[in-house]
Amino acid sequence: MTRKIVITSGKGGVGKTSITANLGYRLALGGKRVCVCDADFGLNNLDVVTGVENLVVYDVVDCIEGRCRPKQALIQSPSHKNLYVLPSVHTFAKERVSPENLKELIEGLSVGFDFVLVDCPAGIGGGFHKAVSACDEAIVVTTSQISSLRDADKVLSILRSYKLSEIGIVVNMIRGDLVADKLALTPEKIEGLLKTEVIGVIPADDRVMLKNAGDLPPECEAFKAFKTLCSNVVNKKK
Ligand SMILES: Nc1ncnc2c1ncn2[C@@H]1O[C@H](COP(=O)(O)OP(=O)(O)O)[C@@H](O)[C@H]1O
Ligand SMILES: [Mg+2]
Repeated sequence: MTRKIVITSGKGGVGKTSITANLGYRLALGGKRVCVCDADFGLNNLDVVTGVENLVVYDVVDCIEGRCRPKQALIQSPSHKNLYVLPSVHTFAKERVSPENLKELIEGLSVGFDFVLVDCPAGIGGGFHKAVSACDEAIVVTTSQISSLRDADKVLSILRSYKLSEIGIVVNMIRGDLVADKLALTPEKIEGLLKTEVIGVIPADDRVMLKNAGDLPPECEAFKAFKTLCSNVVNKKK
C-alpha cells in the first residue's frame, strides 16, 4: 500500500521543502518509488530544490482542471530515476484547488508509488487542511527555537483530530555547539515537550541550502542524518 505522508510545521522557513526533497531522494535511493508533491500553492519551491524547475510543463492545477493527465505532470528527477516531482502552480491559484480535488489527485497518483510525500504550506489555514486531508501520516518539522516549537505543538494538537496512522517529528537545523553549551534544547527534551517521537535530527549545514537533494556529499553529517530519517520512516520507528 502507498504511504502518503504530509510534511508540515506551522512555522515557515523551518525546512519542510528541504526535508521533503531529501527524504524523497533517500527513499528513492533505497529502491522505493517516490512522488514528492508540492502543495504550497503560489509559494512553490519544491521544483527548485529538486532541480526540475526548468522541466515543468504542467502543474497541479492543470491536472485538476483536466488540461493534462496527472501522470503527464510528473517530472522524473534528474538525481534518481525512482523519484518523481508533481510541481505546484506558479500563479496564485490556490482557490482553484479544493481539499477533495487534491485528495482525489493524490489518491490517483499513488498507484505505482511506494511513497507520496506532500510538502505542506506554512500555517494552519486552508492549504494545511488540504494537504493533511490528502494524507494518512504526518511529519512535523521544527527547529529548536521556541517560536517553532510552539507552532509545532499547535500543529500537533490539530493533527491529532485527523485520523492519521503515524505522526513523527523532525528536528531540523540543530546546532551541536549550542546544544553542548545548553543554549538549545536537545532532541530528547523536544520529544518530551511535544510528547511525540523524534524520527529525525538534521544538523544545520549550509550544504543543505546550497545543494540539490541529490548532491549532498555522502561524508557530511546532514547526508547521514537524512539516511537515518529515511530508515526510521521505512521501519516506522515508534
Ligand atoms: N538543515 C539545514 N541546514 C541549513 N539550511 C537549511 C537546512 N534546512 C533548510 N535549510 C534552509 O533554510 C531555508 C528554509 O528551508 P525550506 O525547506 O524552504 O523551509 P520551509 O519549506 O519550511 O519554508 C532554505 O534556504 C533552506 O535551504
Ligand atoms: Mg516550503
